[in-house]
Parts: sequence; C-alpha cells; structure tokens
Amino acid sequence: MPLLTDGDPLGIEVFHTHQLPLEEAPRGYEIFQKKQDGAIKILPKPRPNSPRQVDRRPDLHLLNMKIREFRESDHRQVVSVVDGWGGRRMVDKLPQLFYRYIRQTSFVVEEDGAMIAFLVGFVGDAEEAYIHFVGVHPEHRNRGTGRRLYAAFFEEARQRGCRRVRCITSPVNEDSIAFHKRLGLRIVEGYREVGGVSVHPDYDGDGKDKVVFEKMC
Ligand SMILES: CC(C)(COP(=O)(O)OP(=O)(O)OC[C@H]1O[C@@H](n2cnc3c(N)ncnc32)[C@H](O)[C@@H]1OP(=O)(O)O)[C@@H](O)C(=O)NCCC(=O)NCCS
Repeated sequence: MPLLTDGDPLGIEVFHTHQLPLEEAPRGYEIFQKKQDGAIKILPKPRPNSPRQVDRRPDLHLLNMKIREFRESDHRQVVSVVDGWGGRRMVDKLPQLFYRYIRQTSFVVEEDGAMIAFLVGFVGDAEEAYIHFVGVHPEHRNRGTGRRLYAAFFEEARQRGCRRVRCITSPVNEDSIAFHKRLGLRIVEGYREVGGVSVHPDYDGDGKDKVVFEKMC
C-alpha cells in the first residue's frame, strides 16, 4: 500500500503551483492570499550564487535523443506528467481531443525511448501559429531541449505559410519568461505591469493575466 510508506508517492511534498525568488516572497503571499492564477502553494526559490550552469553535451545527448510528431496515444503519458513538469495544474488544458487535430504540429522528444519533453502547438488562421504548452522533464532541463522543440515548431509553421508564432505564459512563471526572451520572442505590450513585465489583464478570464509573446517566423 504505497500511501503508508515513508516516501512521498503522491508528490505532496514537492507539489507547488508557483515558484518565485525568495526576495519576492511578499508578492508570492499576495498571489496566494488572493488566489490569483490558480495559486495553491507557492515555493520560494533562493537565487543561485553562481551563474546558471547549462549542461552543454549536445552531441552526447543527441545520440539517443529524437524528436517526433505527437501521437494520440501519447495523451496518457502527457496526463501523467504534465502537472509535475509544469509545476501547476495543467492537465485540463490538454484534453485528448486536441491531439487528433494538432498532432502534426505538436512534438515529443524521446531519449532512450522515454518521453522527456513535448510541445503542443497548432496553426491558426491569419498566418499565425500558436504554441500552447511546452514542458521538459525537470531532470532534463537546460540541455537545449526546449530550444530544439521551438526550432521544430517554427520550421513546421514556416512550411505551413505562417508568418508569426505566438504563445502566452503566466506573469509568475519566471522560468518561462526567461526562456522565451532568450529564444528571441518579444513581449506584446499589455495594459499593466506585474513585476516589471507587461501583462494582458484577465486574458484567460477573471484574474488570469497573461504575458503574450510573439516572434516572426
Ligand atoms: C521553460 C522550459 C520549457 C525550458 O526548457 P529547457 O529545455 O530547460 O530550455 P533550454 O535548455 O532549451 O533553454 C533555451 C535557452 O533558454 C535559457 N533558459 C531556459 N530556462 C531558463 C531560465 N529558467 N532562466 C534563464 N534562462 C533560461 C537557456 O539558458 C537557453 O539559452 P541558451 O541556449 O542561449 O544558452 C522548462 O523549464 C519547463 O518545462 N518549464 C515548465 C513548464 C513551463 O513553464 N512551460 C512554459 C509555459 S507553457
């Protein structure tokens, strides 16, 4: 009976909906108090003393790494990992029906046969493509996997005649904001600032502010 062991089989000890730098604890408390952006548990994250260490062994990793198109059958595994990888409840945003229609514009990264990352995106009208979610297994981050997934999606979008790619993220998701900026996406100006970042208030409904990114293909 796994619930009775000393471990944490349900991941309760590591569960959090948001992560913020330690010095932003007061803002984190405010987000939590007002239950903004689905906040349930906010984890303070101390700043690293040294510059971010990036694992630069692409050749080694690429030997066993492959990017492939999404399959409907991937849904089961996505459901089992997405909340943990995203650091918040995401599973409702990725219903199975999606994959029937967007599998050619969504990708999975496998290493040694195991899914370590995926990107869900689609092509809309007005020559615009949209990245709905990207997630990389926490133990496989900082190895250029997210960058590779974006490159694959941009290439697909270009081939389908798109002129720009858009995506959104939560103002509290600092990692995502840093990642998107690093990949050269620009922030589309909103009507308010949160923590120095321009946001679109109530973008996804009441209190669900979003940062909107855009890059030409
Ligand atoms: C955001 C995320 C997808 C990044 O994936 P990743 O594979 O670790 O990113 P990469 O290694 O490809 O990084 C690409 C670039 O972004 C930079 N970057 C990535 N995360 C960063 C961070 N937290 N802070 C600063 N820079 C960061 C990298 O340094 C790298 O720059 P470089 O190639 O010029 O050196 C991953 O952290 C994740 O899955 N987060 C949880 C889910 C999520 O928030 N998704 C986005 C919203 S839908």
